[in-house]
Amino acid sequence: KTIYILNGPNLNLLGKREPEIYGAETLADVEKSCGELASDKGLAIAFHQSNSEGAIVDLIHEAREKAAAIIINPAAYTHTSVAILDALNAFEGPVIEVHISNVHKREAFRHHSFVSGRADGIIVGCGTQGYELALMRAAKLLD
Ligand code: DQA
Repeated sequence: KTIYILNGPNLNLLGKREPEIYGAETLADVEKSCGELASDKGLAIAFHQSNSEGAIVDLIHEAREKAAAIIINPAAYTHTSVAILDALNAFEGPVIEVHISNVHKREAFRHHSFVSGRADGIIVGCGTQGYELALMRAAKLLD
């Protein structure tokens, strides 16, 4: 089984962008640790990042055919995108939402997530380890 791990805008700068908030690990580091954890569990991952909303919607459509579960950090689109919510509603498997930072400790505009209304689990404020925690949860749900 394959798990799609999708990342929204500016996460390509992970490790360089506001490291006091998001930490020093890069997205390539996250991909590597998730790949290792997935293979330990007999799963595969398809790891993607895009700065554009439509590309993320297209990846979620692709996941309908190719993925058993989706882990998604929609980044800023979390707080704005009905299109990403609608796409996730058209996906049948488990969806886990991840935020590296604790969005609830931050500005009020980060407190609402459109995606949370669809998510089967949400991991917030656990740093980049949140992706591994999400993967463990997705593996359990697919068991
Ligand atoms: C984020 C939190 C969002 O509010 C922000 O726009 C991001 C990253 C996180 O992982 O903590 O880009 O999703």
